[in-house]
Amino acid sequence: MDMHGYVCSAAVVLVLFSSFPKPSADSAAMAELVTWKCDNGTYYGENSSYQSNVRILLASLAANASRSRPSFPVGFATAVVGASPDTVWGLGLYRGDASSGTECASSCLALAPEVAFGRCMGVKDVSIFYDRCTVRYSFRDFLASPDNRQVQVWGASDDSVAPRDAARFGALVASLVGALSDWAAFNTTTRYASGVMVSDQGFPTTPSKDLVHRINGLVQCTPDQAPGPCRHCLQGLIDEMPAVFNGTVGGRILAVWCSLRFEVHEFYDGSPMVMLVAPHPTPPPSPVRSTHQTAAVPPAM
Ligand SMILES: *[C@@H]1O[C@H](CO)[C@@H](O)[C@H](O)[C@H]1NC(C)=O
Ligand SMILES: *[C@@H]1O[C@H](CO)[C@@H](O)[C@H](O)[C@H]1NC(C)=O
Ligand SMILES: *[C@@H]1O[C@H](CO)[C@@H](O)[C@H](O)[C@H]1NC(C)=O
Ligand SMILES: *[C@@H]1O[C@H](CO)[C@@H](O)[C@H](O)[C@H]1NC(C)=O
Ligand SMILES: *[C@@H]1O[C@H](CO)[C@@H](O)[C@H](O)[C@H]1NC(C)=O
Repeated sequence: MDMHGYVCSAAVVLVLFSSFPKPSADSAAMAELVTWKCDNGTYYGENSSYQSNVRILLASLAANASRSRPSFPVGFATAVVGASPDTVWGLGLYRGDASSGTECASSCLALAPEVAFGRCMGVKDVSIFYDRCTVRYSFRDFLASPDNRQVQVWGASDDSVAPRDAARFGALVASLVGALSDWAAFNTTTRYASGVMVSDQGFPTTPSKDLVHRINGLVQCTPDQAPGPCRHCLQGLIDEMPAVFNGTVGGRILAVWCSLRFEVHEFYDGSPMVMLVAPHPTPPPSPVRSTHQTAAVPPAM
């Protein structure tokens, strides 16, 4: 499954669920635009104070997220700009593996004005999801009470495992994402984890005829969250997975406060932080084996 196929399928899902505009891959390859959400219903006028506040906000998010500041991790920034009634609240976040030393660290958030004053011109509440960074701004103080359900979009790959394998494959993905969520929440200060699940059993896929042995995953919370809230945020996404990804071999749930992604190809930089080996599939029940069923336990959800 290549990136292009992925983006196209994301577009289909987005159109079906929320009639968002069709995503396209433009800008620098390092900062591929995945999708965006222009909240439909709240508008500002051309050259208004609100617009100039958005411009200032985006510039300071880009600058501050790329800079090391006391008690604020690199790769994350929040900001409030302007006086009432034109106040704008904003948040910018780099993907955990893109937050320092890469070209993206200085370029991804800086691209946000293209969408803000292009496709989302005039809209007051906007979220933009690049491959390597996320930004949201709003006339509502969404920073005061983080709610990951306010903005949430998902996409799934075109490729699926066979229907008979969907439950087992889904359980492996859930097990990987669960382990990554534990790691990100409790073992890091960046609240980011990447990892891989390796399976002896190959999963044949359609329509592409691949045999999938490795599932790569990534989860991330904003780094201002304590371990408990971060883990809780990710669990909310994990709980949605069965309904959203029914045997698809790739997918993402993108949101502001935490997000997750899995793919058969390796899509993150650096070595996986978590490596898991899938347990062997439970053999079909048979009278002979029934007294020895100790080893093959499916992974916990
Ligand atoms: C805004 O919402 C209305 C009603 O829900 C819909 O008809 C219209 O197409 C939407 N506009 C955009 C740009 O999404
Ligand atoms: C906004 O400002 C630009 C540049 O100053 C100007 O060309 C344009 O006419 C202005 N638009 C409105 C609606 O005032
Ligand atoms: C960016 O960081 C600087 C230095 O910490 C801070 O003074 C400034 O208020 C920040 N900008 C915004 C918009 O938060
Ligand atoms: C998943 O897909 C299969 C067909 O491939 C279908 O029978 C099943 O109902 C689907 N499950 C969900 C939860 O959508
Ligand atoms: C944290 O890391 C250690 C090894 O460094 C590992 O054994 C442990 O399972 C990890 N904890 C979580 C919650 O992932």
